[in-house]
Amino acid sequence: MLQAVRYLLGSPGGANGFGSKSTAEEVTPDLCSVTAIITGATSGIGAETARVLAKRGARVVIPARSVKAAEDMRARIRDECPGADVLVMPLDLSSLASVRAFADRFLDLGLPLHLLINNAGKFSHGQLALSEDGVEMTFATNYLGHFLLTKLLVGRMAETAAETGVQGRIVNVSSSVHGWFAGDWAEYLQLVTRRKIPYDATQAYAVSKLANVLHTKALAARLQEMGANVTANCVHPGIVRTRLNRDRDGLLTDLVFLLLSKLLKTIPQAAATTCYVAAHPRVAGVTGRYFADCNEALPSPAATSNHEAARLWQISEAIIHCTNTNKSTGLGLLFPPIVQEAGDDQT
Ligand SMILES: NC(=O)c1ccc[n+]([C@@H]2O[C@H](COP(=O)([O-])OP(=O)(O)OC[C@H]3O[C@@H](n4cnc5c(N)ncnc54)[C@H](OP(=O)(O)O)[C@@H]3O)[C@@H](O)[C@H]2O)c1
Repeated sequence: MLQAVRYLLGSPGGANGFGSKSTAEEVTPDLCSVTAIITGATSGIGAETARVLAKRGARVVIPARSVKAAEDMRARIRDECPGADVLVMPLDLSSLASVRAFADRFLDLGLPLHLLINNAGKFSHGQLALSEDGVEMTFATNYLGHFLLTKLLVGRMAETAAETGVQGRIVNVSSSVHGWFAGDWAEYLQLVTRRKIPYDATQAYAVSKLANVLHTKALAARLQEMGANVTANCVHPGIVRTRLNRDRDGLLTDLVFLLLSKLLKTIPQAAATTCYVAAHPRVAGVTGRYFADCNEALPSPAATSNHEAARLWQISEAIIHCTNTNKSTGLGLLFPPIVQEAGDDQT
C-alpha cells in the first residue's frame, strides 16, 4: 500500500534519490567518449533512450528494420543536438541472418562498444507467426535476436572495456509481465509452434520477457567467468502508452489503460530505468540484477532459476547452431532435455 502511494506521488524509491517519476534526462550523467547500440530506437522508450544518451554526448548506433525510420530519428536527435554522432544501420531482430549481418557490419567499422541496450520489442496482435528461422515470432524478436546480437558483440565490449578502463554495460529491457507466465516456457513454445495448443499473444509476450530476465542471469555469470569488465542487468521500464500497446485496438485495452492512467509513466519516465542502469555511476559493478523505477527489484521466482537460465542458454545455442549450419531446426533439437545437476536450485 505504502509502495503504491509512493509510486503515485513519485517519491524517491531508494537511497539513490530516483523513483518512478524520475526521467531519463535526470538520471543520465555525461557520456562523452561512449559508444552505445540501442535496439528499437525508432519509437517509444528506445527513441527517448537514444535521444538522451546522444544529448549527453554518447555516439549512438540505431539499428532498425526501417532505415528510413532510423534516419528520421537521427534527424530529430540532430535538430536538438547539432553534431550528435548517430549511426543508422539495418537490423531485423526476428531474423538471425540479419543479426549476423548487422554484427559483421558493426564490427567491420572498428568502433569501440561500451553500451548495448537490448530494447526492441513486439507484442503480437493475436495470430501465431513464425520467424524465417521457424521460431515463434515474439520470442524470436524480443529474445532470440538479442541473444545472438549480444553473443556476437560481447567480445568487442570486453576489448573496449580492457582498452579504455571503462566498464561495459548490457541492459536487457524486459517487463514485469515476465511474471505472468507460469509453467514450462520451452514446452509452451514447442506446443504452440506445433499448433497443439491455441496461440495466446499475452503468454507469448510473457515468455519472451521471462527469457530476457533468464538471459541476463546466465549472461552475467558468463561475463564474470570470462573475466570481462562488462555487466549485464535487466529492467522493467514501467507501463507507458507506446506503439507496443497503442496499436492493440479494443475496448478492453482502452478501458484498462483508462483505469491505469494514473499509474502510467510518460515516455521520459519510462526510459529512466534503462538510462540509469546503462550509465549511472551507482550501478558500476552491479550485474545480473533486475531493476524497476531506477532501483533494484525482485523478479518473479521463475526468473531466478539457475537451471532455467542454463536451459534457455543451451536451447538458444542449439537454435543458432542449426540456423548457422543450414540444418533443419527440428523441434526435437530446438528443445533438447537438459540434465539437472544435483544441488542446482533457485538463487
Ligand atoms: N510500453 C510499455 O508499457 C512497456 C512495458 C514493459 C516493457 N516494455 C518493453 O520496452 C521495450 C520498448 O517498447 P516500447 O513500448 O517503446 O515499444 P514501441 O514504441 O513499439 O517500440 C518498439 C521498437 O522495437 C522495434 N522493433 C520491433 N520489432 C523489431 C524487429 N524485428 N527488429 C528490429 N526492431 C524491432 C520497433 O521498430 P519498428 O519501427 O521497425 O517497428 C520499435 O523501434 C520493449 O522491449 C517492450 O517489451 C514496454
